Order: sequence, then C-alpha cells, then structure tokens
Amino acid sequence: MEKRLEKRHILLGITGSIAAYKVCEVLRLLQHQGAEIQVVMTESAQHFITPLTFETLSDHEVITDLFPSHRTVKTRHVSMAEWADCILICPATANIIGKIASGIADDFLSTVVMASRSPVLFAPAMDYQMVRNSIYLSNCEKLEKLGYRFISPEEGELASGAVGPGRLADIRRIIESVKKALLGSDNLKQVRILVTAGPTQEFLDPVRYLTNPSSGKMGYAIAEEASLRGADVTLISGPTDLQTFQNIRLIEIKTAEELARVTKKEWKDHQVLIMAAAVADFRPLKLSRKKIKKETAEWVLQLEQTEDILKSIGEKKGDRIVVGFALETENAERHAIQKLHNKKCDLICLNNPDGPGSGFGQDTNRITLIDAKENVEHLLLMEKWQVAQHILDRVALLLKEKVIA
Ligand code: CTP
Repeated sequence: MEKRLEKRHILLGITGSIAAYKVCEVLRLLQHQGAEIQVVMTESAQHFITPLTFETLSDHEVITDLFPSHRTVKTRHVSMAEWADCILICPATANIIGKIASGIADDFLSTVVMASRSPVLFAPAMDYQMVRNSIYLSNCEKLEKLGYRFISPEEGELASGAVGPGRLADIRRIIESVKKALLGSDNLKQVRILVTAGPTQEFLDPVRYLTNPSSGKMGYAIAEEASLRGADVTLISGPTDLQTFQNIRLIEIKTAEELARVTKKEWKDHQVLIMAAAVADFRPLKLSRKKIKKETAEWVLQLEQTEDILKSIGEKKGDRIVVGFALETENAERHAIQKLHNKKCDLICLNNPDGPGSGFGQDTNRITLIDAKENVEHLLLMEKWQVAQHILDRVALLLKEKVIA
C-alpha cells in the first residue's frame, strides 16, 4: 500500500449527520496512506456515533470540548490549528458551514477552523431540500471565494428515503480531494497527458488468452501523480485490479489492437504520451470463435506480430513529447538506447525486471532514465509513486525546453 500521506497531519472534523458512520472508512483509508489523524467531534455528531469508535480507530483521544475539565494544553485550538496540515470536515452539516461562513466559533471545531491557515475541505451531507436552500448555497459560495474547498455531495438515496442530491461524496473522491489539498501543485497545469498501463490480453478462443504479469501499478502511479500536478489525464488501461482518481479519464481495453486504436485516436488531443503498458508483441494468427476442446490431439499456435504503437506514434509526434518504457534482460542500456532512437522517444524508462523490490507487481521499482541525448540517470530503488515523480519532473523540463526552443 502506498504511503503517499506519510508524516501528514489531518484534523478530521465530524458533525451531526447520519453519514458520520461512513467516516470510519475515510479515517482508515487516510491512515493506510500514512497520515496521522486527530478527530474532532461536535456535540451533534456524538448522537450518531460515539467518540470511542474514533478513539479506537485513530489511537488518539477524540476532541469534543472547547473547555475540557481535564485541560492539558492551554490553547489547544491554536496548537491543533498549527499541527494540522489540512482540516477535513466530513460529514459537514449546513450548520457548521453556516457557522464558519458567519465567523462563529462557539465549539472546538469551528474555533480551530478560525485559527487555521491550512486548507479546509468540507464534505457536505444533508437532505436534498437543505442542499438547495439559498442560505446554504450562498454560505458555500462565500466560503469558496475565500479559498475553502468543497467535495460536492452526490445524488442518490438519502436518509429521509427521498432520492436526490445531498449524499456524502464517494469515499474515493474524498481521499482524492485530501491528497490534492496536501500534495497538489500546478507543475503540469492543464497539460494534456495520455498514459497507457497494464497488460493486454490476446485471445485464442473465447475463454483463453495470452498475457503477461504486468499489474499496471507503474502507469497508474504516473497518471495519478500527473493529475496531482494539475494535468488533464487520460489513462488507457489493460485489465488490472486497480482503481484510480475519479477526475482521470479512464478508458479500458483488452487487446493490443484495441490499445493501438484507442491510443492513436486519443493522441490527437494530447501533448504528452507515456507508454507504460506492457503490450503483447504477438497475438494468435487465428481466433477460434468456439472453445477449443481438449479432444484436439495437438494444438499448434501460430502467432503474428502486433503493431508497435509507440513506434507508430513516435514517428509522427511532431513537437509533442513521447516517453517509452523498456524491459530488457541483457545488454540493458544498449538495447534501451536502440529502442529510444528507433521509436523516436524523448525519454525512455529502463525497467530492471530482476533484483529485490523491482519487477512485475511490486510497489517499488528501480529504473534508469535515458534521454534523446543518451544522458543516463540511474534511480535508486523507490516506491512507484516516487519513480512517477522523477519521470514527470523530466516531462515538465522537456515541456519547458520545447517552449524556449
Ligand atoms: N510497445 C508498444 N507496442 C508494442 C510493444 C511495445 O507500444 N507492440 C511499447 C511499450 O509500451 C514500451 C516500449 O514499446 O513503452 C518498449 O517495450 P518493450 O516490451 O521493452 O520492447 P519491444 O518494443 O516489445 O521489443 P522487445 O520485446 O524486442 O524487447
């Protein structure tokens, strides 16, 4: 599991909505990402769920009072405001939003928000009538103008039994917004980046295919890192178990042929291609429409080459940027440099399939970056999201060079 939020402090404010029970999962997922969480609950929140639940999950005392009887720190609202790198109010009621919009600080949560200079995110949850209320809407507008962020509620079934807007945002979207608030930059703002990831499947008959062990983790890490840097990302993915950010446009494919068709179509609207997919080089010459039965005494498979997508795109890339990957088991650097020139890449990321911590399916990777001038940079073994950062730093530099040239 990636620890993308390691050493980050999140103050999680819980207010009085039935959606409070969903926050256990939010807390758990943030912790899995390495974040340290301090929970603050309003009085109303404690009618829906007890502080003990969050105390147990967060392994910290839950703050419920502005004036606790056993006071340990004199100005705890100030020290907590300084401690928090980000405040997430989830679920956020119309009441807390109204109080903060009006400058009221009469409990711990509203007071700590008043004292904080860190990003504050609201994930509202309430009935559809309340979401449409003009006082609530103007409070949100006011706060948004002041830089407070909202994770908009979704349409769906509500606690009242009605169906409409007001449901707490999908938990994945909440986590994604926290990551954006804590890690986001505009290093690749509005750059249109196309990423391919994962394996392809080349069918022999309706129930069998040829594939490879690619997990897609490297390509997904690149797509997410690019999105955190403000890029508009399209991710074309072969079959994987992974999920990605909701603001990444995901196109799922299975075969190398589909990947070629979709990548070439999408490339028209993008400035950068990062080809991390493990594309099958061969596919069965014939696809049997019916399942091949085992009575068949012998089965000789004839294969034909698939299109080299990266090469086709690299040859006509113009002044756009193309990044390829290379997987080599011998004479690695020499072969990678040949591939770089042959496929007209601006950068090639040489994968080391052997050695502890690198290779298919791992969360870490050790790669070597080689640019068109054959400059070679060996990266140490690191998490895939860190590798993604190195690759995107190079992409940002290449984009800058193109502008200057
Ligand atoms: N690639 C591609 N289309 C293919 C095969 C590979 O676009 N049909 C891309 C991969 O996504 C990767 C790069 O080409 O970015 C290099 O892939 P790799 O498997 O290392 O090399 P191949 O070109 O397949 O050559 P070989 O298998 O002979 O090493």
